[in-house]
Amino acid sequence: MAKQMKAALYREFGGPDNVRVETLDVPAVQEGEVLIRVKAAGVNPVDAFIRGGHMQQFLPYTFPVIPGWDVAGVVEECGHSARRFSPGDEVYAYARRPTVHLGTFAEYIVLPESYVAARPKGLSWEEAAGIPLAGLTAYQSMFDAGQLQAGHSVLILGASGGVGSQAIQLAKAHGATVVAVASARNQEYMRALGADYTIDYAQGPVADAVKAIFPEGVDLLFDCISGETLAQSAAAIKPTGTLVSILSHGEGLDLGPEVQFKYLFVEPNAPQLDHLRELADAGKLKIQVSQTYPLEQVPEAFRQIETHHTTGKIVIVP
Ligand SMILES: NC(=O)c1ccc[n+]([C@@H]2O[C@H](COP(=O)([O-])OP(=O)(O)OC[C@H]3O[C@@H](n4cnc5c(N)ncnc54)[C@H](OP(=O)(O)O)[C@@H]3O)[C@@H](O)[C@H]2O)c1
Repeated sequence: MAKQMKAALYREFGGPDNVRVETLDVPAVQEGEVLIRVKAAGVNPVDAFIRGGHMQQFLPYTFPVIPGWDVAGVVEECGHSARRFSPGDEVYAYARRPTVHLGTFAEYIVLPESYVAARPKGLSWEEAAGIPLAGLTAYQSMFDAGQLQAGHSVLILGASGGVGSQAIQLAKAHGATVVAVASARNQEYMRALGADYTIDYAQGPVADAVKAIFPEGVDLLFDCISGETLAQSAAAIKPTGTLVSILSHGEGLDLGPEVQFKYLFVEPNAPQLDHLRELADAGKLKIQVSQTYPLEQVPEAFRQIETHHTTGKIVIVP
């Protein structure tokens, strides 16, 4: 009989209460893949968008869906020709496969070994599980798309959440000056992460507050929130600056003619996970886990992530 595992899953799109814990066969390991015993799985807003059926036009899916795209865990088995890891290795990964089907809110997951990297040893399992999706998003947005350089200034909208918390630290580690935007209760948190300046988005137009610091505007605006805050921040970009958004496609934005606009959707990238591990092990990338949940409480975790006011990361511990 196949080995079995507990998993949180849903069989149709809908609200958080569609999610149940069931017992399933552990997926078989194919060529080039590794079986990982999940120690912790980070929760991201996209898990809730998918569960609500809002991504079905872009991402193929097969029911049942086990949600979750972040994992930290232990390699238990390696498929034929998978040679990068051995059983017992401690790893982490951004686990988005081409089809939404078997995710990380489970006791086991099978992944191509090319998605996987050794995990930061200096962090707890829960902290490590908070890095991959959000950390890769911050990295790819600011450095691949945004070409952020040492000495540049970056304005980060939504800087106290999963992506923004890592974006502050990555930008500082690369020698940039950071202006971080979130609500009043997160100002001290963002300063503790290294932000040079912080702005409360409820205290008037963000662009006015930025212009008081950088009259010429910032080199890069990294948008993790979109909506009204983005609309009233666009004027804070230098005339030749760049806007990278992970939500907006730029519609309705009043941007100068030479401002570059880019939308980014994060991709798995193991070499970049190696870089994030090195930063974490050097003490330059920390993760605040604000809450953990067992598999049975995945609906509660969904309700929290859907507030869009989570500080740091929340994590499932199966
Ligand atoms: N395209 C991609 O590849 C990609 C990748 C990752 C994430 N995303 C998307 O990016 C967004 C952020 O992800 P996340 O994981 O960082 O979310 P999160 O952990 O829920 O964080 C959201 C943060 O935004 C802040 N915020 C809420 N309203 C705001 C406003 N009006 N102005 C400025 N900040 C505000 C919140 O701070 P306060 O509580 O202080 O308000 C909170 O810290 C989500 O919508 C997610 O789906 C896209």
